[in-house]
Amino acid sequence: MTDSNEPEAKLEALSDIINSSAHQAIAEYKKTGHGVPSADATTFHPLDLTTDTLALKKAIRLLEGAYHQLSSILAPPQHTVMNLVFNYNWACTGVAFRARLADVLDQHPEGLSVDKLAEAVNLDKVKTARVLRALTLMGCFKEVRQTVERDIFANNRLSLILKSANNVGCYTKLHSQDGPKFAGVVYETMIDEEFSRSHELDKAPRVCAFRKEGMKDPYYEAMENNQEKRDVFHKAMLGQSEVLGASAVLHRRKTILGTIYRVVDVGSGIGTFSTPLAKMFPHLRIINQDLPKVMAQAQNAWEKNAPETLLDGRVEFIPINFLEDAPVVGKDVYYLRHILHNWPDAEATTILRNIRKAMGPNSRVLIHDCVIFHTLQRPSVGTNGLNVAPEPMLPNFGAGSHNTYQTDLTMWLIFNSKERTLEELEIIGAAAGLALTQVYDLVDTMLIEFRIAGQS
Ligand SMILES: C[S@@+](CC[C@H](N)C(=O)[O-])C[C@H]1O[C@@H](n2cnc3c(N)ncnc32)[C@H](O)[C@@H]1O
Repeated sequence: MTDSNEPEAKLEALSDIINSSAHQAIAEYKKTGHGVPSADATTFHPLDLTTDTLALKKAIRLLEGAYHQLSSILAPPQHTVMNLVFNYNWACTGVAFRARLADVLDQHPEGLSVDKLAEAVNLDKVKTARVLRALTLMGCFKEVRQTVERDIFANNRLSLILKSANNVGCYTKLHSQDGPKFAGVVYETMIDEEFSRSHELDKAPRVCAFRKEGMKDPYYEAMENNQEKRDVFHKAMLGQSEVLGASAVLHRRKTILGTIYRVVDVGSGIGTFSTPLAKMFPHLRIINQDLPKVMAQAQNAWEKNAPETLLDGRVEFIPINFLEDAPVVGKDVYYLRHILHNWPDAEATTILRNIRKAMGPNSRVLIHDCVIFHTLQRPSVGTNGLNVAPEPMLPNFGAGSHNTYQTDLTMWLIFNSKERTLEELEIIGAAAGLALTQVYDLVDTMLIEFRIAGQS
């Protein structure tokens, strides 16, 4: 029998996980009846366009986690550590999106020479080619070589994401433009007397970076007064939802949402969650609550995208400042997606306290956010719906949980807030009179249920 403590046996076990998870992913694609995607594909695979990819995401979490763990053991450490730093993919993606390279290539499915592409977007051809080559290496865009004319590029399944109309493209812009600016001052904020020990909203690295540029920019308040910023942000939120596969919750209504009739989407945005919810479940009464200007924007978006749901008054739009007021009272579910992670503990507790005031005896709060686990933490399998990676993987899936831990850092950079551990969520819940009752693992994100504390 293999001794699992032997280093070589561990490497073999990681290789096996890579193999079996790749086969699980292949099976998910095949289930659609459309085969597997190819590296040369120039269109999306039907599975790319569905909203329930939980099984695929579970396979990819294992694949990426096991692959990175194996590679970091086998590669020279100098190589692996440099890989952590030596990475300008964000800059190249930013150029491709902002210059609309994928939009232009979309008009030329057979490919376009970089000279013509660069001319079309008014950029230097040599620099444009370097950006595209760096991305092509990572599978985004493809190079179509011909005998006479070299450097001909075309779109592929990955670069289609970078078209200007794509929600995820918009989300990449949000990260590639400001993220590096804020990340660039992280160490500075960690040693600066004013910023270093503060967990206050106005001591985020974003504030430090903007201050250096002579700007003040309270995030959501600035957005309330800037329609263009609001438009980009809410489109990016649709993109974030796609990336995190957050709609998986809609496909597990019976297990997760249970028997409900009245849902309040607290901090609904333009309806990233509530619009598909209303479309899928016509019996539900849905109340969207967000800042006043966002509510006006939401109403326009619903009239455009889901007019049929507005006919009988079962969808409402009620402005709120959730830091000051309670949402509408006595509903079955108060759903908060990507809300608490925007706020440091003091404000997050205030939001929960305000919701607690509105809850009836059977109301539930559903927090939909990323959840942090320590690399050595092995919560018991099956209880609370948590998945744990198989040995010898890191229990929290290591690099397979990349999105969760990068989102945590993003929250720090922008808001001085964080993704929380289950224990941290329990603490802020308890401070608001709520008890954690259930957890559902949706890969990248989790759904955490709270009820009024002290009820059986
Ligand atoms: C990260 S977005 C999430 C939106 C939506 N739940 C989703 O998943 O796409 C956070 C939302 O909180 C809203 N928000 C921020 N501050 C608020 C406040 N004080 N009162 C009510 N809503 C607020 C923002 O307008 C934004 O729509």
